[in-house]
Amino acid sequence: MSDVGRLVRERGLVVLSQVTATEFLDTMSQLGPTYTHPDGEADGTTLITPSERPGELGRGFTMEALPVHTDRSSLADPPRFLGMRLVRHGAHMGGTPMFADLDLASVGLPKDAIASLSIESISSGHRLPFQVGPHGLRYRDDTHGRLVGPHDLVAEIRRRTARVTLPVDWLSSGDAYIIDNHRIAHGRTAITHPARTSVRVLAYSPEQKRKT
Ligand SMILES: [Fe+2]
Repeated sequence: MSDVGRLVRERGLVVLSQVTATEFLDTMSQLGPTYTHPDGEADGTTLITPSERPGELGRGFTMEALPVHTDRSSLADPPRFLGMRLVRHGAHMGGTPMFADLDLASVGLPKDAIASLSIESISSGHRLPFQVGPHGLRYRDDTHGRLVGPHDLVAEIRRRTARVTLPVDWLSSGDAYIIDNHRIAHGRTAITHPARTSVRVLAYSPEQKRKT
């Protein structure tokens, strides 16, 4: 485990200030095996920009705001690490990163309450547990998937997640962040300038066995 990997596990979120594309990719490659995203390139990078790319791409490639979510939440075991380097980014471009610490949102909830929650796919109805592995959590409550479980508990998790969601509007072009994708849900505000561009890399942690 790299030093950065240890830090991300401890803190949930690490910012790499003013790193080159090469430094960012090197750091990500030290975390564990790169996940090849279906919308991405063969090297595991995904260019996220509201440009007109061909094909059926999701909301991430539009100007729309993205509610906080776990990346690849429809996988049984989503990649543990998500890295994003802001290539062209600034306050005038929108796309402000947002983070929600699911550990904080779930403080004090008994194990059986956590176990009663799932994320349900909107398209297939398939459910996956809110809990990922022994300690992780997944979250999605948007057009792809929704939080399901006992009504009052779902309402409370939604309320808490909204309360802990932080828009971080002080990052700029060249900054990158790496999150523990099993703890920190991420999203963004609406993009307001079409040149706003970032690059995403997902990586498994070394102990993750499932690769689908
Ligand atoms: Fe995402």
